[in-house]
Amino acid sequence: MSGAGLKVPRLRGEEVRRLLAADGLLDPHRAIKKEAEFLVFPLVPGRPVPASWGERVDRTFEPVSPKGPSDYRELLPWPSAEKRSLPRSFDVVGDVVLLRIPEALEPRSAEIGSALLSFVPGARLVGADRGVHGPERRRSVERIAGTGTWRTRHRENGLEFDVDLESAYFSPRLAREHELVAADVRAGDRLYDLCCGVGPFSVLIARDGRARAITAVDSNPAATSLLRSTLGRYPFGSKVEVVDGTLESFVPVAEPRERVILNLPHEGIKYLPSVARTVAPRGRLFYYEVSSRSDLGKRSEGIVDALAAHGSFRVVDRHVVHPYSPSSDLTAWVLERGSE
Ligand SMILES: C[S@@+](CC[C@H](N)C(=O)[O-])C[C@H]1O[C@@H](n2cnc3c(N)ncnc32)[C@H](O)[C@@H]1O
Repeated sequence: MSGAGLKVPRLRGEEVRRLLAADGLLDPHRAIKKEAEFLVFPLVPGRPVPASWGERVDRTFEPVSPKGPSDYRELLPWPSAEKRSLPRSFDVVGDVVLLRIPEALEPRSAEIGSALLSFVPGARLVGADRGVHGPERRRSVERIAGTGTWRTRHRENGLEFDVDLESAYFSPRLAREHELVAADVRAGDRLYDLCCGVGPFSVLIARDGRARAITAVDSNPAATSLLRSTLGRYPFGSKVEVVDGTLESFVPVAEPRERVILNLPHEGIKYLPSVARTVAPRGRLFYYEVSSRSDLGKRSEGIVDALAAHGSFRVVDRHVVHPYSPSSDLTAWVLERGSE
């Protein structure tokens, strides 16, 4: 699409773009061109432009590609009152899309699924997420659109994790938390990743390379098998020792280490007295819990008390990882053991 344009130094680009747009002189159907230190704005044909705004030139412009929808709900031809009850957000794990569907909309799941399948770039499968259950926190998912299995590869913190949404716990909402914990590991630290799942803490810490020893423990063989599969693809994979086992059998015989992660948010509290002894003096415990929003101060005291049987711990950080329910959050505590 060739036509008239206005050539302007980049430094004046925004100023001139506003002037052209305000006077309706900028052609919205053709794309602005970049030419070294200049921009060339496509002009609406036959309209004069003040000479002081830039140099008039002739150019070939690319057409502006039409904008796609910015929200999957725009793809559903439903009355707006019905659309309002659709969830706004959804999770993407690898090429799988997960969303929680309100009960009243379940009969329309297939429509919602196919809207998401075309909305999310690269999506292969869409599932209704019915939450995680049981001690192994396995997710109940039901296919509502797309094909294939729940196994996928998810990119997080520059790494690719083997994940199977049905057989082992994984949440894409913990990426920042995995990163925070990894950043706290010092050169030479030894670490336990208790309840490691598919290993997002351990693999990242191994990749970073500062830890001297990393042991990842989980009772779900599907989780440890996925973790082994991820580790097998990386040159640093051998740094992680993967243990198939329960906390009940592992913790009582574990030697103390400088960094310990305990990510079992609904039941972790019952393991705290025994886990306390696995934290070396001046070492840190990263502990996660789903806690009521109203009494976090008291909760901190309860956690420190639970650890007290095997040492004195103090809270060095506490933060919300993400909201869990209208009245509770997934909360992270970082607890440091004294030097006794
Ligand atoms: C919330 S997931 C944590 C996964 C992982 N840390 C992450 O960030 O993705 C909890 C994990 O604890 C494991 N688990 C539950 N009870 C356990 C126990 N008694 N001993 C060992 N692992 C256990 C489950 O199999 C599950 O993989």
